[in-house]
Amino acid sequence: MSAPLLARLSAGPDDLTVWPASTARLPQGHVSVGGVSLADVADCFGTPAYVVDEGEIRGRCRMYRAAFPQADVVYAAKAFLSRAMVRWIDEEGLGLDVCSAGELELAHLAGFPPERMVLHGNAKSPHDIETALRVGVGRIVVDSPSEIARIAALVGPAGRQKVMVRVVPGVSAGGHEKIRTGTDRQKFGLSLTDGSAQHAIARVLGQSQLQLTGLHCHIGSQITDIKPYLVSVRRMVGLMARIKDSHGVTLPELDLGGGHGVAYRPGDPALDPTALARRLNADLAASCAVAGLPVPRLAIEPGRAIAGPAGVALYRVLAVKHTGPNMFVAVDGGMSDNPRPALYGARYAPRLTGRVSGAEPVTAMVVGRHCEAGDVIASDVLLPGDTRSGDLIAVPVAGAYQVSMASAYNLVGRPPVVAVHGGVARLLIRRETQEDFQRRDVGA
Ligand code: LLP
Repeated sequence: MSAPLLARLSAGPDDLTVWPASTARLPQGHVSVGGVSLADVADCFGTPAYVVDEGEIRGRCRMYRAAFPQADVVYAAKAFLSRAMVRWIDEEGLGLDVCSAGELELAHLAGFPPERMVLHGNAKSPHDIETALRVGVGRIVVDSPSEIARIAALVGPAGRQKVMVRVVPGVSAGGHEKIRTGTDRQKFGLSLTDGSAQHAIARVLGQSQLQLTGLHCHIGSQITDIKPYLVSVRRMVGLMARIKDSHGVTLPELDLGGGHGVAYRPGDPALDPTALARRLNADLAASCAVAGLPVPRLAIEPGRAIAGPAGVALYRVLAVKHTGPNMFVAVDGGMSDNPRPALYGARYAPRLTGRVSGAEPVTAMVVGRHCEAGDVIASDVLLPGDTRSGDLIAVPVAGAYQVSMASAYNLVGRPPVVAVHGGVARLLIRRETQEDFQRRDVGA
């Protein structure tokens, strides 16, 4: 049996190792995060609700900046974005990866410095590019050949925009096939193996409106092993050396994307950013020395590893059903606020909170309220055998790709996001209401 599996099985339902560092056990089975009892959050803001620990977000930003003092740490906004999040990221000195005019405008309106923004996207609309140029984003990452002339034309003859080229280094990594982006069998980037990356780079270098600052790659998400990053570095440095040989251009920047994996359950493997930094810097320096290149300035784009462990999803149990050996615990949210189990088979560790139970733990499936059998939040988890309607269930590591991927399925309404810090809870994003739905539905 593997060590992580052993640790998980022996961890039990009261293990708080994947929760925010501020988490504390209170009397009577209560749990607090950021000094605020989760039961109080549920009472004040209703359920389902997302709780975000500001201190955990800031702590993770600081940990990244300490691990990568010479690099640009660029937070991937797609993991979770709100005006408060933009402010925290700005105050902690990180950059911001945006991938639509929507994310860009929100960050801009919240006062984020545009030169620290990077625009991504495999299919950027004219509106995306125009917004990026109007606001003045620091970098646009070219993802397809047709974009090159479009960006150059929109920049105009007098302007000059910094760009990078997204390269597919041919490295397979990531927690699920739907989030592996390092090989040619997916839609992102320009292939190193078939020469389309080299071709695009030559075209960018030929456009006076575009300034190529470096290369980018993002090989996947929820990666828990350092090795794929090291292989990517070698291949990217090899390409930089070939660019120098054929064009006489030494590129000053290398962006290795994000993808750093986190533990969703006690005992799950996770990527250690400090160990990653140490190995990356050593391998980058060695590869550059062999290639006769100066060491480029590194950028990394963590999303999940900053936001994920800072969030907790809170649900109220609506129904409990015992069918044969199975206990189904149905809560007031589900795949509309967390599509990750259905999409990627993601596994979570829910916990009863707000009540002490003396009942023996039993194997349970926590399901949502939506009209699909695949609407599961967590299966094969241990919950007290007397779990009942009205109980509060908290799911840790809910801060990334849940709020941002939430949908209006069944018109249930997306949950609010509540920040907790220093014993204070405040609403960041309000609950979506029936009025919101009715206001959009204009075609009676
Ligand atoms: N940079 C680029 C260009 C990306 O496309 C992404 C994520 C990131 C950085 C940040 O990756 P992270 O550090 O968060 O792994 N919805 C999926 C994850 C999709 C990731 C998409 N791109 C999930 O819930 O697992």
